[in-house]
Amino acid sequence: MGLIAEITHRCPLQCAYCANPLELVRPTEELDTSGWKRVIEQAAELGVLQFHFTGGEPLARRDLVELVAHAAANGLYTNLITSGVLLTPDLMAALVTAGIDHIQLSFQEADPQASDRFGGYNGGHAKKIAAAAMIRESGLSLTTNFVVHRQNIDSLPAMLALGEELGSERIEIAHTQYYGWALRNRDALLPTREQLEAANAIVDEARAGLAGRIAIDYVVPDYYAARPKACMGGWGQRFLHILPSGKVLPCHAAETIPSMTFASVRDQSLAAIWEHDPAFARFRGTAWMPDPCRSCDRREIDWGGCRCQALALAGDAARVDPVCARSPEHDLVEAIIATRDRDVTSGDLPPLVPRRYQS
Ligand code: SF4
Ligand code: FES
Repeated sequence: MGLIAEITHRCPLQCAYCANPLELVRPTEELDTSGWKRVIEQAAELGVLQFHFTGGEPLARRDLVELVAHAAANGLYTNLITSGVLLTPDLMAALVTAGIDHIQLSFQEADPQASDRFGGYNGGHAKKIAAAAMIRESGLSLTTNFVVHRQNIDSLPAMLALGEELGSERIEIAHTQYYGWALRNRDALLPTREQLEAANAIVDEARAGLAGRIAIDYVVPDYYAARPKACMGGWGQRFLHILPSGKVLPCHAAETIPSMTFASVRDQSLAAIWEHDPAFARFRGTAWMPDPCRSCDRREIDWGGCRCQALALAGDAARVDPVCARSPEHDLVEAIIATRDRDVTSGDLPPLVPRRYQS
């Protein structure tokens, strides 16, 4: 089991592809240090192995080192998912002493100007390069993460080269997922089929060339897949996702489902929520499935895809994920792709709307 801890929504960057919800949690509503420590202890008791510190920007929390130390002391594998712009040598040393196991560092592009433009942070790229060096020098393994989309995907070879140059042990190339703020920018971010096919070939070639030295994880854009992903490894089966406020969700976008409410670690233990909360039970397993999922041989492979995507595209979280070619609503996805191709031909792309954190 894994636990994704969004310890804050504060973030100095302004990425248009941010998958965090439209409504962000304010600093005054964040769980305090003792609240997160309680979560860590209850996670370890529940059988969680991996504890992912994320955000927002987790380095914006002053107690991050204390929380990492507490997680390590409770036997959890600790992963920090960061943009790196707030990392300093002192903080890096403190994180290592606290027992951090792994850091994933995100980049917006390989080119410094483009990277700063997509991240909405002047000088951010240079800070990320410095952060990568600090991570490598500390002896930790480094994963570099590049979120790709229509407007940067043509730089994919340069991104792979940068990941290699920085000494990554793993490079993650992740196409934008259209949730939260990113859904608002979908029409400006979704790549064309031609771009996607070129990217797939570049990744295949890089995998062959870097085999045995650097692992490449590749997340394709849902809309072009014939079958959906097993979102979160199946609803309520492998992951807990905790918002800065302490609300516990089966996935990061679950709050978009209007009919559902979610419990908080302020009121109940993690174990009680995992085992008894109706929200976790709602789409767990296969009993909830409509046809054709109910009789499909992939129902225990992809668990019917993504509930939040079914809501976003078909208007009902209990429908088959429209990304699936067997979904009665798959034509919705085909129409979005066709519109993209037409807009690209006419050069009529909408502007990117940056995400801005306002406290
Ligand atoms: Fe997955 Fe349902 Fe599509 Fe089968 S019909 S591949 S279970 S989403
Ligand atoms: Fe909610 Fe996929 S993001 S189920």
